[in-house]
Amino acid sequence: MPPDFSGIPAERLAALIVRAPKAELHVHIEGTLEPELAFEIGRRNGIVLPYDSPESLRQAFAFTDLQSFLDVYYAAAAVLRTEDDFHDLTWAYLQRAHADNVVRAEIFFDPQTHTARGVPFETVVGGMSRAIGRAREELGISAALIMCFLRHLTEREAFETLERAEPFREHLLGVGLDSGERGNPPEKFARVFDRCRRLGLHAVAHAGEEGPPASITAALDALGAERVDHGVRCLEDQSVVARMVRERIPLTVCPLSNVKLRVFDTLAHHTLPKLLAAGLRASVHSDDPAYFGGYVNENLRQSFACLPLMAADAYTLLRNSLESSFQPAAEQARNIERLDELFENWGR
Ligand code: ADE
Ligand code: ZN
Repeated sequence: MPPDFSGIPAERLAALIVRAPKAELHVHIEGTLEPELAFEIGRRNGIVLPYDSPESLRQAFAFTDLQSFLDVYYAAAAVLRTEDDFHDLTWAYLQRAHADNVVRAEIFFDPQTHTARGVPFETVVGGMSRAIGRAREELGISAALIMCFLRHLTEREAFETLERAEPFREHLLGVGLDSGERGNPPEKFARVFDRCRRLGLHAVAHAGEEGPPASITAALDALGAERVDHGVRCLEDQSVVARMVRERIPLTVCPLSNVKLRVFDTLAHHTLPKLLAAGLRASVHSDDPAYFGGYVNENLRQSFACLPLMAADAYTLLRNSLESSFQPAAEQARNIERLDELFENWGR
């Protein structure tokens, strides 16, 4: 039974959303690299970024589409070299997530961005895993890693990456697919994902961000995706919507990202209310928060400020985030209980 929201005054909803336990299911660790940290890490590694200062890097954050963003994002990631760099990046993110009351974070990383520069796979995973262990101890936050394949690269390169990853299998929760969607359909990676699923890895994929609804269908059928990242373009095909509702496929929606990358003109044009009205299992996340203007609470705050969303929608989005995570059922249930208690008591 969902809690009774009737006692929650609209003006107190924003504070409730901030306080609520939530899961972050769509965040790229490289996209949490704040310009100040990029410069600090660059300095200690003797790597000069093609920008004068953190401010001038920030000024380059005027994107026209996904690719214009990816060009800056891959350039900034070049400062990351040592295990400490990956630890510091992940630790900084997990502290921010904790401040937003994220209780579970399933974090994407792009190993190929780093191994292509000669950084060993174990350096990347070692640093991130150390930060995740520290965050569990010191902050009580649960986090895990999802390894993404870059879809603009080849199937062979994806297989090579998987081979490098196999000795670190216990550090990985699942695999994902990201980078430029246009011209790189999910089918290209069907055999790679097949092998990943046989290794017991969860499968997710970016689809329906810039690509058409058929790309979502392909992510489900060719890759066995258990969650669709973005997926907002599903609304262009009612048969895809019907299937996602029927199969309860989670959609990890990133409103500020969609505006920055021009999927929607403004936040007021975002279709999040329509996704919820259609009965889709949507939740709100941050994608690349250092580049798009905010972490998960800021995505929620601005969405509720600009869109016709109510307390019941807040509950649905937060609950969907917790339920769509790959956490064991008992931990999920505990988090949902905490969410219910907070909503029950907030208006009283
Ligand atoms: N990598 C980082 N952010 C991404 C996004 N929004 N879409 C595809 N690939 C990405
Ligand atoms: Zn993403």
